[in-house]
Amino acid sequence: MTKSYDIKDLNLAEQGRKRMDWAEQEMPVLRLIKERFERERPLAGVRVSACLHVTSETGNLMRALAAGGADVVLCASNPLSTQDDVAAALVAYEEIPVYAIKGESNEVYYQHIKAALDHHPQITMDDGADLVTGVLQERKDLIRSMIGSTEETTTGVIRLKAMAAEGVLPFPVIAVNDSDTKHLFDNRYGTGQSTLDGLIRATNILLAGKTFVVAGYGWCSRGIAERARGLGANVIVTEIDPVKALEAVMDGFRVMPMEQAAPMADFIVTATGNKHVIDSNTFAVLKNGAVIANSGHFNVEINIPALEALSVEKRQPRAFVDQYVLRDGRTINLLGEGRLINLASAEGHPSAVMDMSFANQALASEYLLKNQGRLPVGVHALPKDLDREIAALKLHAMGVTIDVLTPEQEAYLRSWQEGT
Ligand code: ADE
Repeated sequence: MTKSYDIKDLNLAEQGRKRMDWAEQEMPVLRLIKERFERERPLAGVRVSACLHVTSETGNLMRALAAGGADVVLCASNPLSTQDDVAAALVAYEEIPVYAIKGESNEVYYQHIKAALDHHPQITMDDGADLVTGVLQERKDLIRSMIGSTEETTTGVIRLKAMAAEGVLPFPVIAVNDSDTKHLFDNRYGTGQSTLDGLIRATNILLAGKTFVVAGYGWCSRGIAERARGLGANVIVTEIDPVKALEAVMDGFRVMPMEQAAPMADFIVTATGNKHVIDSNTFAVLKNGAVIANSGHFNVEINIPALEALSVEKRQPRAFVDQYVLRDGRTINLLGEGRLINLASAEGHPSAVMDMSFANQALASEYLLKNQGRLPVGVHALPKDLDREIAALKLHAMGVTIDVLTPEQEAYLRSWQEGT
């Protein structure tokens, strides 16, 4: 096993530990799983390589996996999302090898992925499928000893399903994103709050009264649209899916093509999972001073090379703001190099939603192990009973109780004879 690490500065460890402890207070479900893992050691000796955003919440997931006995290493899932103090704390206090430095180059990013694969994982845990992609493209030798993989994001699940459709996915994957306790909360409320947080920290521009365009109306984008509206912005949604577009209309948003929306936009945020959603034709019609940002997993949603080509100058008026000056004198402000702005200039989703996402991750790795050799190759959701258990634990931790069916109601639901 690789026992080295590559982080910014080990001296940041104490600060990182404090932040992890602070986050843990809002992660009661993961804490319960960690306590059970300590007793039962379900992951004893299993090599796990995780490629996740290195945040205080991820730090707590690493603690839980280690408590379960896993031999775990962690690398960054994005060059700009690492919290360097958390990386240091995991190395110094938890003895977990971490390969992640905020602001690392693309080259170093892929060196870190390689280091995580050199751990010879039996389980990989991905946020964007980079480890599985690495296995398929560079490390086919690892397939033999792999039990399976877990995947956090919508983008990663789409990629893994494409691998399965092509017949190249070699092991079972648990699509954590497909759990209700993941996408309904993390994607919607997490991305909603953290994207606005990132935007505001980067620019400090008032949203009230501004025109705010959201590209996409999946779970992430609808969270962003809802929170932007809550701050007083006039929100326009763009979509390619007629059902989602209709939902956006009936949720009270204006819906139109990007080309029509862009000239009105003070802000555009993308969260579609697709490439070049903001392209040369969008730059051509943007208002002077428009702010554009991305909250989707990869930095491909905004065509940055095209923006570079159209520009005569690039300035940096604030951290995480690149101001491009176009030939006609208009300026366009690109946030966080087009990388997910909620993690680049803010701290990602709040701990209370990551609690459920990472409870899913921890239970998914245990589930893979328990079902080793029995799960078919392919992309699977975590069983519904585990999903519901996470919701029940979360409600319990929040002090919320709910009704239970009476025997009469249970019988009614099983029957079909009774009518009006
Ligand atoms: N993805 C989005 N927010 C995150 C967070 N706080 N930690 C880990 N992954 C995340």
